[in-house]
Amino acid sequence: MSLLKLGVVGVGALGRHHARILSEMQGVDLVGVAEVNPEQGQAIATACNTTWYADPDELLDKVDAVSIVVPSIYHLDVAEKFISRKLPVMVEKPLAASYEEAARIVALSEKHHCLVQVGHIERFNPAFRKVADSCSTPKYIRCERLAPFTFRSTDIGVIHDLMIHDIDLALALTNSSVLKVEAFGASVVSDHEDCAQARLYFENGCIADLSASRIHPEPSRTLHCWGYEGSFSADLTTREVSIFKPGETLKHGPSLPERAKRPDADIEQMKQDIFGKQIGVEKIVVPQIDALTAELQNFVDCINTGAQPVVDAQAGLAAMEVAEAVHKSVNRHQWEGSAHGPVGPHFEIPAAQGLRVA
Ligand SMILES: NC(=O)c1ccc[n+]([C@@H]2O[C@H](COP(=O)([O-])OP(=O)(O)OC[C@H]3O[C@@H](n4cnc5c(N)ncnc54)[C@H](O)[C@@H]3O)[C@@H](O)[C@H]2O)c1
Repeated sequence: MSLLKLGVVGVGALGRHHARILSEMQGVDLVGVAEVNPEQGQAIATACNTTWYADPDELLDKVDAVSIVVPSIYHLDVAEKFISRKLPVMVEKPLAASYEEAARIVALSEKHHCLVQVGHIERFNPAFRKVADSCSTPKYIRCERLAPFTFRSTDIGVIHDLMIHDIDLALALTNSSVLKVEAFGASVVSDHEDCAQARLYFENGCIADLSASRIHPEPSRTLHCWGYEGSFSADLTTREVSIFKPGETLKHGPSLPERAKRPDADIEQMKQDIFGKQIGVEKIVVPQIDALTAELQNFVDCINTGAQPVVDAQAGLAAMEVAEAVHKSVNRHQWEGSAHGPVGPHFEIPAAQGLRVA
């Protein structure tokens, strides 16, 4: 079989890893990287044994497909060039900088019958997969995604930068649509919101609480999911998954307070038996596969076989639609319960309190 000719557009902090992985992937010939920063482009091209081009247009006649890893505000512009030539694209998340631009990418992919995959990498995280496979009917989801300020992705706010990962995971877990969103957030160091809190109400009754901050001292990514089968928690960084499931006596016998009323009840022993005996506890460390390699392999496989990617353009658009609703809700939030007081993420704390957030 002939090699698939791939290119990477944008080889900055993340794109360099796309280029490295694709340069080592079986069945792939990384024919070039397009990068507007000459030193960066040349350095990555040399490291990956490929050619640097200053302009993505120069890749158009050379590739079978590309991975697009430029800042989100340029996704539509770059994607349009390749999709119009019916060349499959892998677009990093978020699909675009706004819902309208994301919808335009989806419309182009439909018009040109062109594969579009979106880089929601957490879908390839084995800790997420373990939770998704274990909890078939999530009724409550809680996600927290915290990071220090990196001075990257400042073209977008934390909702489209970080929270969108968890919006996509919640949509995938529930397989349902969002009916209502309540959110608030604040801009602290950038022109967009830097931290945000959102509650999503799903059509199937599930509720998801999402918390995202890019001004947190310590990075962390966690997912908790409660369903009829039990409670499932994943540390998406260490990939440790904890599973709590009610035992048979708890499910079928009298309640614990009822049992505690028996004359021979040993309350101290009963307290110790809650976790382990009444509620089964299992801790699993899932395999340490590289999620970006799995994601790019999925892209290559879909090009070769015509299969649907794990995260297609519609999934990327669905996440953008919810992100937009969260953004609108953050912009409407009245900090003092009135439109006459501070509203939205760029609020000013009254001067009398000696602090200013704007
Ligand atoms: N999936 C994830 O977890 C994840 C993580 C980080 C970033 N991202 C996404 O990846 C994208 C890139 O983020 P980053 O942190 O690597 O940004 P970055 O700024 O480090 O890199 C972007 C690179 O693109 C280059 N560039 C800009 N316009 C270009 C153009 N028209 N043609 C060629 N090159 C161009 C820039 O010079 C820069 O080197 C963003 O959309 C971001 O949201 C996704």
